[in-house]
Amino acid sequence: MRAGSLLAVTAAGLPAVRSLQLDVDSTDSIRNAASTLAYGMMDYYQNNQSTTPPTDVGTMPPPLYWWMGGAVWGGLIDFWAYTNYTRYNPTIQQGLLAQTGPDNNYMPPAYYYTLGNDDQTFWALACLSAIEYGFPVPEGSSSTVYLDLAIAVFNSQVYRWDNSSCSGGLKWQVFESRSGYHYKNSISNGGFFQMASRLARYTGNQTYLDWAEKSWDWMWDIGLIDPNYNVFDGTNDLINCSEIDHTAWSYNPSMLLYGTAILYNYTDGSASEMWQERTSGLVEACARNFFGPFDNTSNVMYEPSCELSNDCNYDQKSFKAYLARWMSKASVVAPYISESVNRLLTDSAEAAAEACSGGTDGVTCGQKWYTGEWDGDYGVSEQLSALEVVQSLLLLDGDAVRQYPRTNESVRVRVESSPTTTLSIGAPTGTASGTGEENSDQTTTSPSAQSTSTDASEASESGSDEEGDGNESNANFVLPASIVASFVLPAAAGLLFLGLA
Ligand SMILES: *[C@@H]1O[C@H](CO)[C@@H](O)[C@H](O)[C@H]1NC(C)=O
Ligand SMILES: *[C@@H]1O[C@H](CO)[C@@H](O)[C@H](O)[C@H]1NC(C)=O
Ligand SMILES: *[C@@H]1O[C@H](CO)[C@@H](O)[C@H](O)[C@H]1NC(C)=O
Ligand SMILES: *[C@@H]1O[C@H](CO)[C@@H](O)[C@H](O)[C@H]1NC(C)=O
Ligand SMILES: *[C@@H]1O[C@H](CO)[C@@H](O)[C@H](O)[C@H]1NC(C)=O
Ligand SMILES: *[C@@H]1O[C@H](CO)[C@@H](O)[C@H](O)[C@H]1NC(C)=O
Ligand SMILES: *[C@@H]1O[C@H](CO)[C@@H](O)[C@H](O)[C@H]1NC(C)=O
Ligand SMILES: *[C@@H]1O[C@H](CO)[C@@H](O)[C@H](O)[C@H]1NC(C)=O
Repeated sequence: MRAGSLLAVTAAGLPAVRSLQLDVDSTDSIRNAASTLAYGMMDYYQNNQSTTPPTDVGTMPPPLYWWMGGAVWGGLIDFWAYTNYTRYNPTIQQGLLAQTGPDNNYMPPAYYYTLGNDDQTFWALACLSAIEYGFPVPEGSSSTVYLDLAIAVFNSQVYRWDNSSCSGGLKWQVFESRSGYHYKNSISNGGFFQMASRLARYTGNQTYLDWAEKSWDWMWDIGLIDPNYNVFDGTNDLINCSEIDHTAWSYNPSMLLYGTAILYNYTDGSASEMWQERTSGLVEACARNFFGPFDNTSNVMYEPSCELSNDCNYDQKSFKAYLARWMSKASVVAPYISESVNRLLTDSAEAAAEACSGGTDGVTCGQKWYTGEWDGDYGVSEQLSALEVVQSLLLLDGDAVRQYPRTNESVRVRVESSPTTTLSIGAPTGTASGTGEENSDQTTTSPSAQSTSTDASEASESGSDEEGDGNESNANFVLPASIVASFVLPAAAGLLFLGLA
């Protein structure tokens, strides 16, 4: 936190508190907590001053990378949509539109040659939320400015679809000068998939649906998604994607989850059943792999590949924000998963509130939520993660001011529910552990961070470390023995899970 801003809080005469107050049974309390967290978030953002260089407007302070601006504005558009608090809207509008670049596709010259597909996507996803919730367009901009931006990003990535190796897929980095150019990863392809899914549902245009199917099929066929819906980090096109880096990051499956839920909602008949099965598989994999790690915190969100080993970087510290964001948004369009998601995110939000008890303001958020206290860490990523898990409760309780993502007036969305049954998922057997050690040499992360791209560029390095014992699919997952998550699933999808339980 910034000393100056904390002084400002004191000067305003706000009483010192010991931790973020959150009563998950009270909508007012959730809104107030979200508002406190959003205030703390905006406190870190100073790039809207008259002295800010134009290339910095809309970006987060160093050492955070460019993509984080898109991530933050996406979270704050949701904050506005769910609470109707408008105070940050001018700042959000300014930030979101400051980085579009001359081609209006989020490739601004100042960051051009460092761009990964995923970096660009995070800004487009903020635009998609703006479209879906009807976020106001600033005076002087076209009424379709956000839609035009999202479509332009999508089109720029279609053009990069690369079937010169691996039978397709998007590379991580856009330019060959970057290490990471030969990494075909889940966040880039999953981000493209989510964009395509949301554009399909919003516009009704078949082209987007075709690309959503094509990108999903590619990820599945190449093994980035395994039959248990574990989602792995990436693969190397120099070896034709023949080996996979199995590192587990929470934003990979959750990125896919919101796309599959959108398509479950948008499609009909057997297509909808297929997307429902995928939605069920992904939400179950999210529950299995990213909540824990101890018996006393079995429903608390955490990042297994770095939190316990204390080596999360700035990017990775923000991933819980997207896990919360996309699990909760998926529940709105696939209500049959909402009961189990609600329990996981409610417990996580309560834990996050206790971890937001640092700094001299007493409500600065730390990184680890399973500790039951502030862990001494702070920053944009920590604050955004807590904000997103807390505000997601408004969606899950049906109390968000804007609950449903809109579509173009010409698009009809299916509203009838499918027959459901309740399925309990018991303690997994044969659980793997020891994630921290296994990942200490797999620092792969994206969206691209210059400091990590060297490690991330060579999937073969981490891939060749795999044991090759036929049990690789679970090698990097910690499965908390205590998870007893009850999912409401369609009878057909239930069969899929019997094999897992
Ligand atoms: C910068 O953003 C903050 C938060 O929205 C706002 O209070 C402040 O007035 C803005 N400053 C300028 C110069 O626009
Ligand atoms: C949201 O705020 C706007 C003013 O910004 C107001 O017109 C509208 O009625 C509010 N909606 C709800 C549901 O509170
Ligand atoms: C490769 O991709 C391009 C563009 O998507 C497509 O036109 C072409 O048919 C593809 N080639 C093969 C061999 O699949
Ligand atoms: C490369 O991988 C793709 C996808 O697995 C496969 O279809 C193709 O045959 C491989 N090409 C070579 C030359 O091994
Ligand atoms: C559908 O989307 C594609 C890709 O953006 C675009 O080229 C095409 O013109 C769109 N079709 C219609 C009918 O809008
Ligand atoms: C589709 O989403 C809407 C919310 O936008 C929801 O009310 C509806 O139940 C969903 N349809 C299905 C089949 O779950
Ligand atoms: C849960 O247990 C762990 C390990 O025993 C401990 O470090 C942690 O503080 C506990 N968390 C809570 C919320 O009590
Ligand atoms: C809805 O789609 C029609 C036809 O493509 C388009 O003219 C119109 O601008 C769209 N409306 C919105 C709000 O996106």
